Amino acid sequence: MRTLLLIEPLSEEQLNRVYTPILSPLAWDLGHIANFEELWLVQRVGDRDPLRGELGRFYDAIENPRSIRGELPILKGADCVAYMDQVRERTLDVLDGADLDGSEDPLLRDGFVYEMLLAHEHQHNETMLQLLQMVDGYEPVERDTGPATEPVSDGPEMVAVAAGEHEIGAGAEGFAYDNERPRHTRELDAFWIDRTPVTNAAFAEFLADAGGDPPMYWERDGAGGWVSTRMGRTEPVDPRLPVIHVSWHQADAFARWAGKRLPTEFEWEAAARGADPDRANLDQLGFGCAPAGAYADGCAECGALQMIGDVWEWTASDFLGYPGFEPFPYPEYSQVFFGDEYKVLRGGAWATRRDVIRTSFRNWDYAKRSQIFSGFRCAGDA
Ligand SMILES: [Fe+2]
Repeated sequence: MRTLLLIEPLSEEQLNRVYTPILSPLAWDLGHIANFEELWLVQRVGDRDPLRGELGRFYDAIENPRSIRGELPILKGADCVAYMDQVRERTLDVLDGADLDGSEDPLLRDGFVYEMLLAHEHQHNETMLQLLQMVDGYEPVERDTGPATEPVSDGPEMVAVAAGEHEIGAGAEGFAYDNERPRHTRELDAFWIDRTPVTNAAFAEFLADAGGDPPMYWERDGAGGWVSTRMGRTEPVDPRLPVIHVSWHQADAFARWAGKRLPTEFEWEAAARGADPDRANLDQLGFGCAPAGAYADGCAECGALQMIGDVWEWTASDFLGYPGFEPFPYPEYSQVFFGDEYKVLRGGAWATRRDVIRTSFRNWDYAKRSQIFSGFRCAGDA
């Protein structure tokens, strides 16, 4: 299981340590993954009592903000892993007897709850990777060095998307989150969008010209260049790679400096049509981005590359419900976050599991955040 593979190199102390108030200690993520599974499948679907009584409330993500999770009386070490095992055993037992095809219960129909739990664990794998960037000396058990060796294609700086009616969101069939539904049509004016994500080279040029804060983990190398330190390793910033760990404010400032703007999330989704998640830098084990211009065979219909994978892309859009939105299966997944506090990111990053991402998937975060695997590309009116 990927969750356990990621934590295998870590000591008990590292699992329990609070590295930053904006991320949970890894031990919390582990217990929360198991508890969420227990809550929705074992308790809700299987109608069984909780394994550890009242413990569950400490793993409620809404009740316990990230900044206090280090102080909660949560399960540690072997006890936590044992709990994960026990829950998984009960889950499989419940699934054995569940009617996933013909059920009237929308939670069970077409295996929704099963897909939701899988997606939840896989999304937490990415959150865990955000924290692992801060762990000095972290050495992955398994690495895939594939993406960096891909050939890079040349092409125009921007590609065009024609005006018209564009289908936005996920259809009624198959698994998707409530915030991706209902699918609807948006009338868009013609626009241009960058063919690739903005690179480190371009962002360094912007910093040199306009000033401002560098991306998270960047430092001066003493000779006018930049190095970045992740997992305790300091390396020169590779100018060919998409810039990553930038806030929405940094992305927006760059776009304006370049005489462009950030795309709306609807423009982003229209431009991403046809992008192939099977030919994209996803699924974590590359532990970094591929050069801008890689994965040319996975390009979108409009010719844009790397719409899926490498970096989450900030958009100009606030996180809001689509017309006719209905919360499912609980308002705390999406609805409580709707408003102008959060900006939408699209497309997934190298740290996103392949089965999690699709062109309709909406991620969101505060405009000031950069510990997420966030980059961007720019757009412009045609
Ligand atoms: Fe969660």
